[in-house]
Amino acid sequence: MTVGSLATVSLDPPLVTFFAMKESRSFAALRSLDRICINVLDEDHADVCFAFASSSGPKFAVGDWDMDRGDAPVLRTAAVAMHCGIGPVYEAGDHYGLMARLTDLRTTDTRPMVFYRGLISRLHPTTGRHAKTNRLDWWAH
Ligand SMILES: Cc1cc2nc3c(=O)[nH]c(=O)nc-3n(C[C@H](O)[C@H](O)[C@H](O)COP(=O)(O)O)c2cc1C
Repeated sequence: MTVGSLATVSLDPPLVTFFAMKESRSFAALRSLDRICINVLDEDHADVCFAFASSSGPKFAVGDWDMDRGDAPVLRTAAVAMHCGIGPVYEAGDHYGLMARLTDLRTTDTRPMVFYRGLISRLHPTTGRHAKTNRLDWWAH
């Protein structure tokens, strides 16, 4: 499923969390697993973003997936891939929060997708490690 609510929680141990609507069927399936892979989309993954934001349709038909690591599919072109063990699920209003513990991390230099004002956006090319400010170019998808 596509989520925009991913947050880092702790460095030691390495924990992240995200929030899913209580009625989400994808989340009901996810929370029953032992392991997941959190794939951070890059700025060219609009198709993957919207395929996994839909309740219907063959989600894994979109994107280049590595399915060899058991039950945690890895998007080969993800900006970041975080392999995680599933931790506690907790109440968060009309959502559930899920805590996940990182077991493996793959990072790249590709720019992550930004979802801003309901639109997919791009970080401006001048945005780099040493840039003082981030500039955002955004366009209607
Ligand atoms: C950019 C974006 C961010 C989203 N973030 C969340 C989120 O943080 N939590 C959530 O429950 N749904 C989020 N959604 C919606 C879910 O992806 C979508 O409702 C869900 O996958 C629908 O399928 P399901 O009901 O079968 O789970 C987001 C959708 C988009 C496009």
